[in-house]
Amino acid sequence: MLDQNNELTAWDRDHFFHPSTHMGMHARGETATRVIATAEGVYITDVNGRKSLDAFAGLYCVNAGYGQQKIADAIAAQAKTLAYYHSYVGHGTEASIKLSKMIIDRAPQGMSRVYFGQSGSDANETNIKLIWYYNNVLGRPEKKKIISRWRGYHGSGLMTGSLTGLDVFHKAFDLPFGPIRHTEAPYFFRRPDRTMNKEQFAQSCADKLEEMILAEGPETIAAFIGEPVLGTGGIVPPPAGYWEKIQAVLTRYDILLVADEVVTGFGRLGTMFGSDHYGMKPDLITIAKGLTSAYAPLSGTIVSEKMWQVLVQGSDALGAIGHGWTYSAHPICAAAGVANLELIDELGLIANAADSGAYLRAELAKALGDHKNVGDVRGEGMLAAVEFVADRDDRVFFDPALKIGPQVSAALAERGVIGRGMPQGDILGFAPPFCLTHEEADIVVQATVEAVGAVFENV
Ligand SMILES: Cc1ncc(COP(=O)(O)O)c(C=O)c1O
Repeated sequence: MLDQNNELTAWDRDHFFHPSTHMGMHARGETATRVIATAEGVYITDVNGRKSLDAFAGLYCVNAGYGQQKIADAIAAQAKTLAYYHSYVGHGTEASIKLSKMIIDRAPQGMSRVYFGQSGSDANETNIKLIWYYNNVLGRPEKKKIISRWRGYHGSGLMTGSLTGLDVFHKAFDLPFGPIRHTEAPYFFRRPDRTMNKEQFAQSCADKLEEMILAEGPETIAAFIGEPVLGTGGIVPPPAGYWEKIQAVLTRYDILLVADEVVTGFGRLGTMFGSDHYGMKPDLITIAKGLTSAYAPLSGTIVSEKMWQVLVQGSDALGAIGHGWTYSAHPICAAAGVANLELIDELGLIANAADSGAYLRAELAKALGDHKNVGDVRGEGMLAAVEFVADRDDRVFFDPALKIGPQVSAALAERGVIGRGMPQGDILGFAPPFCLTHEEADIVVQATVEAVGAVFENV
């Protein structure tokens, strides 16, 4: 058991304001502090020497796995030679310039430039500003609304928290605000009309989007933003044909597409980008997490040539763009990015993500697919989810107050495996590092079966 009385945990309770944490319970010591000390491969170890298989790669970000010497060395070398210089007014470093080239070389066709930030949230803020700037330069100042999806996750800033379509990120923050609208999520398992097949449901999502565009006025809608696979909203791959149908609607009304690839970028779906995986043709792509495998905080907005041309026109008319962060393209983070992308290629980690991810999902489905309280086992690439229901025949969900999802993830943690109880619905999510082996996947599945058994014995 964790030692809750040592000095570190006392300081933690008294001084550390944790994100996404029950503030009162944590401060009062009613929930545990876990102090993580070291990590290697897919395992993390806390200060009490307790080891866990991290089947969520931190927050689906440590894609290359923990303890990668090459990335650590690149960070150290950069810190010694040049710890910082800004990237304003045409300045750069070898690392930031090289990384830009590496990203565009890997990006879907038609992408042209990379603007760097620190987090997925700030990259989506940049996207919104670029979209508004673009339409102002084109002389259509009324075209500003952005459509996102319920259950989408795009960050927790003011605008990006508004784009996010999850209640917990809105409640008591006066969000969503601004010209943001939410349309239906392509969540087949939770489709309102259960008589629909996948094709009909995908069509109905596109129809609802079109109805919203027409009701709002197409001349007011600037962009649509979506994750290729819904992540924090429940790890939900779209039904086949969804993106094609959505894209057709967007093209009809001259609406930009932003692919938020913070989770899916750089290999998580078993392909370099989710946009290529699903045939999406985005105008902007958001990247973060897997860009550096979280060895350093770095995000980016990849801008298409089509938008770039208009932005340049804007600069010619208005001068230098009034947008910048002190830490844009921070050289230490850029060096981490270069080493990480090289390592992913050298170790063939994307192919491994496809292989071990498919194995993990298949084994989860085999072991749990027939359980009376498992409604759905799904995923794509190195993403998997198990959704729990009170009654699988009638698809009756549990009362959220029972906190079934958190109970299963806690029971799993007790068995030495970390999965994530997704924030809305009783969904256990997995997003392991790409280096996961089949043997490690077996450990995840075995622990999940035991955790599910322990929780549902008492329900
Ligand atoms: C798809 C997506 N977009 C944006 C973000 C926000 O990234 P950050 O937490 O780095 O601000 C996340 C974070 O999980 C995400 O999953």
